[in-house]
Amino acid sequence: MIKAVAFDIYGTLIDTQAVLGQLTQVVGEKAVDVAKTWRQKQLEYSFRRGLMRDYCDFSVCTREALIFACREQLIELDSAEIQVLMNTYSELDAFDDVSSALEEMVGSGLHLYAFSNGSKQAVERLLQHANILAYFTEIVSVESVRSFKPAPEVYDHLVDVCALPSAEICLVSSNTFDVLGAMFSGLKCAWVNRDSAAQFDPWGIKPHIVLGGLAGACHEIQSLDV
Ligand code: LAC
Repeated sequence: MIKAVAFDIYGTLIDTQAVLGQLTQVVGEKAVDVAKTWRQKQLEYSFRRGLMRDYCDFSVCTREALIFACREQLIELDSAEIQVLMNTYSELDAFDDVSSALEEMVGSGLHLYAFSNGSKQAVERLLQHANILAYFTEIVSVESVRSFKPAPEVYDHLVDVCALPSAEICLVSSNTFDVLGAMFSGLKCAWVNRDSAAQFDPWGIKPHIVLGGLAGACHEIQSLDV
């Protein structure tokens, strides 16, 4: 039986697209393009820094990706504009279905972990702002192992913190690279596909569960065979 559920944060519990409002005020009509490249580059920078073994706080990847995404649209932000956008990114809201799903899981005896590339401090601020911090047993950040998802040591660290066999832990993530990384380390996985146009990487491996959102996630996770 699954005893612990680890949640990816950015894009799974916390709606990173909610930054669009503030971004539109700063960069105007290019906001949608900037937001897309911002997220892609943020992840690419974390992958590259992981491979180069040049760990930095995830917020550095976020900040540098923002500058790149704007420059691609020939927009040069000043430091005040960067700060405004980084502050917005630090206090985003959760998706609508998150709070009730977490409440149901805690009520049915599951231990919940926030598991992120973000620092403990950054994740705590986000969860607090979104009013969901109290549901979590612990925040597990990659900063403890100074690498980024999907490095195996990051998932091994999660398993150590949960102090359970990996097959009794279910990762819930909207990021396919995160799901594949966790499956590679023996965890059970639920892929949250909030965007019906998204596809799972054709690596010949399927997630244990595919969810359209978090409603019903508790039942699906508890029905998994271990
Ligand atoms: C995280 C990013 C990968 O929260 O979404 O770890």
